[in-house]
Amino acid sequence: MSDHIKKNVAIFISGRGSNMKALVDDMLTDRNHPAKPSLIVSNNSNAEGLKYAKKKNIDSFVFSDHGKNDYFENKTLPVLQSRKIDIICLAGFMKILSKEFITSFAKPILNIHPSLLPSFRGLNTHERVIKTGSLIHGATVHKVTAKIDDGPILGQIVIKIPKHTTPKKLEQLLLPKEHKLYKRVLKEFIFERNKTILLMESSTNI
Ligand code: GRF
Repeated sequence: MSDHIKKNVAIFISGRGSNMKALVDDMLTDRNHPAKPSLIVSNNSNAEGLKYAKKKNIDSFVFSDHGKNDYFENKTLPVLQSRKIDIICLAGFMKILSKEFITSFAKPILNIHPSLLPSFRGLNTHERVIKTGSLIHGATVHKVTAKIDDGPILGQIVIKIPKHTTPKKLEQLLLPKEHKLYKRVLKEFIFERNKTILLMESSTNI
C-alpha cells in the first residue's frame, strides 16, 4: 500500500511502551498495513518507549505534565491536527482524556485495557481477577469515550489463568497477548470498521 494513502496513527504512552512497539513494528514491517506510525505522544519525558520511537525515527511530542488536563490537551490538539493524525492509539497512557478533547479531535481513539471489559475497569486488574478465583482473564481493545474503560468493544483476547499464579506472572503472560490483539484490531478497524475480533488462547495449562 502506498505510503501517502496510509492512515496517520499517533500512539500515546506514559511508560514502557511495549504495546506501542508492537504496533509500530507491525506498521513498519507489513507493507500492506493500512496505517503508519506518525507520532508518539507522551506525558512523561522519561517514558521508556520514547527511546524506541527515536530509534525508529518517529517524531515524538512530549509535554510536561502539570497535572491539568486542559493544559496538555490544548497543546496536543494543534499538533495532532498539523500532523493530520487520523487515529489515536492509547497504549499505557495514564492520563484521562476529557470529553472536550475527544469531541474536538473528532476521529477514532482506541485504547487497550488489561481485562475482559466490562469486568475490572481501572487499575490492578491482574491482582483483582486472581482474587475472584476466575479461570479466565484477558485484554480488550475498545473505542474511547468520555467514560473510563468504556466505549464500544472492538476486540478481546481470552487466556486461562494458571493455578497459583501471581499478578506479576499473569501480567507477563498477558502482555504478549495484548500485543497480538492490538495489532490485529488496529488493522481490522481501519479496513472494516464494524468488525469485532475475538481471540482465544488455549495453550495456557491450568
Ligand atoms: C498494558 O497492560 C495496557 O493494557 C495498559 O497499560 C499497560 C501498558 O504497557 N493500558 P506497555 O506500556 O504497553 O508496555
